[in-house]
Amino acid sequence: MSNIFNASIGRKLLMSITGLFLILFLLVHLTINLFLLFGSDAYNQAAHFMATNPMIKIIEPTLAIGFLVHIIYATILTLQNQKARPEKYTARSAGNSSTWSSRNMYFLGFTVLIFLVIHLLDFYVKIKILHDESIKDVVVNGETMHDTYTLVQAKFEIWWFDLIYILGAIFLSLHLSHGFWSAFQTIGINNSHWMKRLKTIAIIYSLIIGVGFSIIPLYFLVF
Ligand code: HEM
Repeated sequence: MSNIFNASIGRKLLMSITGLFLILFLLVHLTINLFLLFGSDAYNQAAHFMATNPMIKIIEPTLAIGFLVHIIYATILTLQNQKARPEKYTARSAGNSSTWSSRNMYFLGFTVLIFLVIHLLDFYVKIKILHDESIKDVVVNGETMHDTYTLVQAKFEIWWFDLIYILGAIFLSLHLSHGFWSAFQTIGINNSHWMKRLKTIAIIYSLIIGVGFSIIPLYFLVF
C-alpha cells in the first residue's frame, strides 16, 4: 500500500488539517486573552477555567502534535518545491495573481515559530513547567487560582516586548490570510463560488487575529 502521508498530496492534506485545527485554537486563545482588557479578576477566571478544564488534557498534547506536524510537513514541502524549481521566482509571469503572503508562507511561518518559542518560554514554561515562584495565587469569588494577569501585565509593561507581540501578530495575520483559504482548497472546497467566499472570510479572520492580538500589548502600553 502506498503511504498517502508520504505522497505530496497527503503531506499537503495533513498540513491543511493541522492548520485548520490551529486556526480554531487561535480563536479560542484570542477570546480568553481579550479578557485581559476587562481587568485581573476577569482574566484570571478565564485563564483558570481553561487551565482546569478536563478537556485541556486532550487538547494540549493534540495542539503540540498539531504544531509539530504542521511545521515538519511545511519544511518538507518547501524543500521539495525548491528542489523541483531551484530558480528564484523573481520574474513572475504576467497575470499571476499570487499575493506576497502566498509566496512567503514559509518565511512567515518561521517568524511565527520564533515568536511562539519566545511566547511559550515566557508564559507556558513559567506557569506549567517551572512553576515560577514569582507567580502568586489569588482568590477570586472564593476560588484560589494563579495570578496570571500580573505575570502578563509585568511583561507587557516592557515596550520592546510589546513590539515583539505586535510584529508576531502581524506576521501571523499575513500567514493566515493565505493559509486559511488555502487549507480549505486543499481539503476539496475549491469551486470558484466557495473560493470567493473563503477568501473574504480569510481576510476577516486574519484581521480579527492580527488586530485582536495587537490590541492587548497596545492596551498595556497606553494604560
Ligand atoms: C497578546 C497575545 C497573547 C497572550 C497575552 C498570550 C497569553 C498566553 C498565556 C498566559 C499562556 C499560558 C497559559 C497557561 O498555561 O495557563 C499562553 C499559552 C499559549 N499560547 Fe499564548 N498568548 C498570546 C498570543 C499567542 C499567539 C499569537 C499564539 C500563536 C501563534 C499563542 C500560542 C500559545 C500556545 C500554543 C500556548 C500553549 C497552550 C496553552 O496553554 O493554551 N499565543 N498564552
